[in-house]
Amino acid sequence: THKIILDTDPGIDDAMAIFFAFQSPDIEVLGLTTVYGNVPVTMAAQNALSLCELANMDIPVCKGVAMPWVGPESTYAHFVHGDDGFGNINHPAPKGQLDPRSSAEFIVEMARKYPGEITLVAVGPLGNLALALRLEPELPKLLKAVNLMGGAAFVPGNVTPVAEANIWNDAYAAEIVFAADWKLNMFGLDVTYDLPFPPNFTQVLAEKNPTLGGFVERSSEFYTDFYSEGKETRQCFFHDAFPIAYIVDPSLFELTEGNVRVSTDSLNKGQTIFAPYGSTASPDWTNAASINVATKVDHPRLTQMFIDTYA
Ligand code: BDR
Ligand code: CA
Repeated sequence: THKIILDTDPGIDDAMAIFFAFQSPDIEVLGLTTVYGNVPVTMAAQNALSLCELANMDIPVCKGVAMPWVGPESTYAHFVHGDDGFGNINHPAPKGQLDPRSSAEFIVEMARKYPGEITLVAVGPLGNLALALRLEPELPKLLKAVNLMGGAAFVPGNVTPVAEANIWNDAYAAEIVFAADWKLNMFGLDVTYDLPFPPNFTQVLAEKNPTLGGFVERSSEFYTDFYSEGKETRQCFFHDAFPIAYIVDPSLFELTEGNVRVSTDSLNKGQTIFAPYGSTASPDWTNAASINVATKVDHPRLTQMFIDTYA
């Protein structure tokens, strides 16, 4: 099995991804680390606890950064994920306690405990990862890989014409993360926004697994409304599950290698700019870290894998 830490801002597609990881026999989730993003960090942490309780998973849940690396408090995505982050379904408050460690501390501790074994899966803004890098500069050597949901290399953004939400939410932290010397695999809107899931997707999950799939189905109502506005048929996207699916079956994806930098300029904030190797002589690029960007996904096989795993 593959050890992962899931860094998340739950969030509806976060919930779907977390349950997918919990259910996958190939994945061992060491803990959930939370960050502000879709919702404020206090809510993200409580939501993550709720998801663990629903799934009967007794693992550490940590609270992380509450604000961007630079600049004022973020605006949240309640209009996508509901006031509670779960589509306003009145889910009960969790009973358990958060782990006393911060998200960044937990990441560093686990990476030292299992050197070279952990894939860090980041599906929210990247402040925890940037902070962990500052706490432990050797972190890139201690982690096996970083798989993240974020960015848009070859397609438009979803917050601005050029920026995807997770990267836009903390562009300075993202630039730190993209510059670090680890094996970084980026699953951005290039693949996650490529094709919607079939209209009955969440129903099938609910039939397969009434508790976890049922939760995803109920919470997705609000989220699907958002994604379906102005569309002829109802449609929905589950961005955050993609970087986990890659761990289970890399053959689902095509990736291309190059350099990625994140714009921190106000107009282009959060843009993930991709350069193929050697395409520029500027030291800004020739010194940039090498990154794999997912460009293609086998959507039918991916969809089937999610459904099968929700058994
Ligand atoms: C990303 O932003 C969040 O709203 C989702 O949970 C996902 O991580 C998609 O742009
Ligand atoms: Ca997310």
